[in-house]
Amino acid sequence: MTAIRTGLGWDNHRIADGRPLILGGITVPCEFGLDGHSDADILLHALTDALLGALALGDIGMHFPDTDPQWKGASSDRFIAHAAGLVKEGGWTIANVDSTVILQRPKLKDFREPIRANIARLLGLELDQVSVKFKTAEKVGPVGEGQSAEAQAVVTLFQ
Ligand code: C5P
Ligand code: MG
Repeated sequence: MTAIRTGLGWDNHRIADGRPLILGGITVPCEFGLDGHSDADILLHALTDALLGALALGDIGMHFPDTDPQWKGASSDRFIAHAAGLVKEGGWTIANVDSTVILQRPKLKDFREPIRANIARLLGLELDQVSVKFKTAEKVGPVGEGQSAEAQAVVTLFQ
């Protein structure tokens, strides 16, 4: 019988001037970016937490504490590669990943394909196994008022 696991991930970072806006490993040209100890890639962080969640292996901060100077400015490739390695070690295969980035602006839809392709590359998946969606927050709340950005992710594993 096929065993199936689902994992959920969420992340939130503050918007800050003079920081890069990196989503799914792709730098989006913008006059502001996301603040954080690492590269603040909310999408890769949410996906990493979703993978860890499916494995019931804690969360990203447990594996990569933000008090540890070795992760300062770290590329989030490193985090998701670690989680993907744990998936493989456990004998699991990723069926698909789905995600949503919630950011009031800039428009992200032109970056959907490069972001999907990069996530597919990082996780060893086909493009049609990787979904990336974008939403504004309708100008309401901290995301809508341009103070922060959020990402949500869900993954399904099987073996
Ligand atoms: O949030 P809302 O439903 O108004 O978003 C409409 C569409 O705009 C979304 O489906 C998405 O494709 C796109 N969008 C975008 N970049 C954002 C937010 C939304 O490209 N930052
Ligand atoms: Mg994060």
